[in-house]
Amino acid sequence: MKKPSSSATNLNKENLKHFLNTQDFTKKELQDILDLMKMLKEARRDNAIPQLFKGKSVAMIFEQPSTRTRVSFETAATLLGGHALFLSPRDIHLGAKESLEDTSRVLSRMVDIMMARVDDHKTVADLAKYASVPVINGLCDWLHPTQIMADIFTMMEHIPEGKKLEDLTVAFVGDATNVNSSLMFACTQFGMHYKHIGPEKYLAPKKWQDIARDNCKKSGGKLTITEDINEVKGCDIIVADSFYWFGQEAEKEERLTTFIPKYVVTKEMMDLAGENAIFMHCLPANDQREVTREVMEGERSVIFDEAENRLTAQMALLVYFTHQHHVEPSEETIKYHEVKINDFLKKL
Ligand code: CP
Repeated sequence: MKKPSSSATNLNKENLKHFLNTQDFTKKELQDILDLMKMLKEARRDNAIPQLFKGKSVAMIFEQPSTRTRVSFETAATLLGGHALFLSPRDIHLGAKESLEDTSRVLSRMVDIMMARVDDHKTVADLAKYASVPVINGLCDWLHPTQIMADIFTMMEHIPEGKKLEDLTVAFVGDATNVNSSLMFACTQFGMHYKHIGPEKYLAPKKWQDIARDNCKKSGGKLTITEDINEVKGCDIIVADSFYWFGQEAEKEERLTTFIPKYVVTKEMMDLAGENAIFMHCLPANDQREVTREVMEGERSVIFDEAENRLTAQMALLVYFTHQHHVEPSEETIKYHEVKINDFLKKL
């Protein structure tokens, strides 16, 4: 018979939820996270963030470089009273000297939540499969859900007067990137009209379109997939992303010549969209490739609000996924252990 666990942690996998894909959540659950983001951003403005992650740790696994995701998670943990550990494959035995399964189970015994940025979605899915703490997808080859929580929140902050989220039309101009897929899923779930505008070869695959169209049936949203750049006309939000990413370096020249100049977001393209259209980009941006510096610095650009909202999102995600396991010890329990340990130490 297997020996009962001696763990001091809460290893109950019941009700355990991971944040791998926004599609695993209802619109109401995503709205709850957005509402929590609003409250935590207001608390941050007042320098009065409740210590809802006090004494907790987040293990951050990064197979790829990152500025925003790394800094926002680490800062969010600190602001909420907890701690973040940066773990690159150089530093830990991830899938090399130790199986992913064992790494996930060991980390689950020591930290309260994990976040992983990985090359392959299977890696983060396998981490979640064996974890007994929540796992957050910090970007994989086809999804970037934490980015999208920041993006939807930024849209809410800059929504034109009199409009609701479901009234918005979002045009993503460029490649079928992980940001594009996650944004397509979330926008259609919220009932928006989502357009992916790009060269035929790089348009969203059928699998993504099927998910988004299914969302539209439930939400009343709409999906347009087109090569026609004139489709930006009348859109509320223009979104750009890199034309190539890690692992696509060999395709760089072909990609750049296919996308540039037609799919570069310029002032002329923003003007075609309309005077109220805003510009968003997850960053990092390659100026003069997918977007001009003029647009990035222009009045209609909200890219740095969007970047700051990565921190807003990570605060909410850390709290949302760990709050049910948060047990506040009583004064009596704290005193009991303090006296017992101090009495022992005095005798040493
Ligand atoms: N947008 C984004 O994920 O940025 P980083 O690669 O810097 O984390």
